[in-house]
Parts: sequence; C-alpha cells; structure tokens
Amino acid sequence: MVSEAFRGWRAGDGVVDPAGHTMAAEEVAGAETDVLAPPTDPEVCVGFRAFGVRYGDFEALKEVQLDIRRGHITAFMGPSGCGKSTLLRSINRMNDTIPSARFTGQVYLDGEPIYVPGVNIIRLRKRVGMVFQKPNPFPASIFENVAWGARVHGLYKGHALFEHVEKCLARAGLWDEVKDKLKLNAMSLSGGQQQRLCIARALAVEPEILLMDEPCSALDPIATYRIEELMRSLVPDYTVIIVTHNIQQAARVSDYCAFFWVDENRCGRLVESGPTAQLFEAPKDERTERYLAGRMG
Ligand SMILES: Nc1ncnc2c1ncn2[C@@H]1O[C@H](COP(=O)(O)OP(=O)(O)OP(=O)(O)O)[C@@H](O)[C@H]1O
Ligand SMILES: [Mg+2]
Repeated sequence: MVSEAFRGWRAGDGVVDPAGHTMAAEEVAGAETDVLAPPTDPEVCVGFRAFGVRYGDFEALKEVQLDIRRGHITAFMGPSGCGKSTLLRSINRMNDTIPSARFTGQVYLDGEPIYVPGVNIIRLRKRVGMVFQKPNPFPASIFENVAWGARVHGLYKGHALFEHVEKCLARAGLWDEVKDKLKLNAMSLSGGQQQRLCIARALAVEPEILLMDEPCSALDPIATYRIEELMRSLVPDYTVIIVTHNIQQAARVSDYCAFFWVDENRCGRLVESGPTAQLFEAPKDERTERYLAGRMG
C-alpha cells in the first residue's frame, strides 16, 4: 500500500538505488556515485547532491551540488528562470504538488535523504517552513493565523497556546502593533504587517528552516528593512534560505550566497557559492561578477 507520506513522490525517469537514492537512468549506468554521498559536516543542514528537476520534458535545473549551513542566512540569486524557486521548493518537497515535476539526485536534511519513499511530508513541512513572495494570511483573525498551525500539530492549547502566539508575534516584530486587535481579520493589516504575520505563522509550528521566496518584493523600502532586520534576528536559532533579485539585499542580509545561471538549453545551473563577502568581493566566475555589478541579468 502506498502510504500518505509516499503520495506525490515520483522517481521520474530515475530509479531508487538500494541505498534509497534517486538516480537518473544515465547515472545508474555505471557512473560515479560519490556525488550522491550525504554531507558529513554536522554544520550542514541541507545538502543537494546531483539534484535536478524536470517539468515534463523541460529540464529546469540540473546537477546542483550545494551545502547549506545551519544557523545562517543563505541567499539564492540569479536571473529569472534559473530555477531558484524550484530549488527552494524542493527542500520541503513543495514541487511534489506540481504533477509534471520529476526529480533526480538527492536532497539531504540533517544527513537523511528526503527524496525516498516513506518520508513523512507533513513532518518535513513542519521542519521546513515557507514564506511566499506575496503575503498570504488566511482570511481569519490575527490570532487564528498564528494559532492554527500550532494547534494542528498539537503543540499547545489553552493559555500555553496564547503565550505561544504572543511569543511568535513578538519574534516576528509584530506584537506591539497587533496586541490590542488580535481578533481583527488579518486582511486588515498592511502588506508589511501581513508578511510579518506570515513569518509569525511559519514560526508557530517551530520549524528548523525557513524558506523565503522573494519575501520583500511586494513591500516598500521601510517594510523591507523591517523584514531584513527580522531575518537577521532569526539566526542562529533558525536556518534561513531566501531567494532575492535584490543584490543589495543579498549583500546586507545573507551570510552565504549561491549564484545560478541558465545554460544554452534554458536549464538552471549552479555557477558558484560561498560566503557572501567572498562572492561579492572575489567572485570566481565572470557571470557572477557581471551580475553582481548589475551589468547583466
Ligand atoms: N509548474 C511549472 N511547470 C512547468 N515549468 C515550470 C513550472 N515552474 C517553473 N517552471 C519553469 O522552470 C524554470 C525555473 O523556474 P523557477 O520559477 O524555479 O525560476 P526562478 O529562478 O525562481 O525565476 P524568477 O526569478 O522569475 O522567480 C523556468 O524556466 C520556469 O518557466
Ligand atoms: Mg522564483
């Protein structure tokens, strides 16, 4: 019987080897397997190994070999269509919801492969929360928006739940602005407040990793500044991975950067990654240098 957790998982045109890795058919045919070895450094919380994503016949991303460091902010950068959102969504298997999506390679979370049968998707998404480009609060009260996830996961109830909601709103820098109107509909908040509410909602299920796909692109500079401050306040307690088109934002908030490009087939490829200061001051690849200097993209 196919379990609930297994539903939505497809090996695509790959196969699952005895160790549970998903491998592309051509890789199975005798190629090196060490590119699929899990990260050994305990400071690495997410490890992409020869990871690729296809949407139907279209290869959106391939051969991503990348480690994400725990308790830091990593920024994904690169021109539109290079697969940043695709890669971000692969960490909590949100791409599984797209029927045409197929995966090759592997993604490790704390050393454990997540593209294997039997992974509990609900637990995975609790550990790896997500905040989207456009603030998307539920059409419910401010309190309910934050309480909902904690209640669903059975984390808190009664007075402890109220305290938890307060803690999450405070952590998201929103408590002082909403403490007197918790019963008000969340849709009545400003865009920047809504985005902080969505962050509080994501924190409420006590994740380890927070994925943020262009979280400030719909916000003005002041609201953006507040979200950036908030992101910095979340580390090292959380690992934060953001996608941003804003080069200055990546320079301001991130500790590490990964830079992607599209090859001649429009397929996304990782060009280089490393500490943010190193990428900005001494990029190894000319494309990174030109993109960061604002000369292409
Ligand atoms: N659901 C889908 N079905 C088919 N193709 C898709 C789907 N989602 C994304 N793609 C394609 O995959 C490629 C990577 O898309 P993705 O959204 O990951 O890029 P991105 O780097 O986040 O771009 P942007 O900066 O514009 O948000 C693109 O060519 C895109 O058209
Ligand atoms: Mg995107």
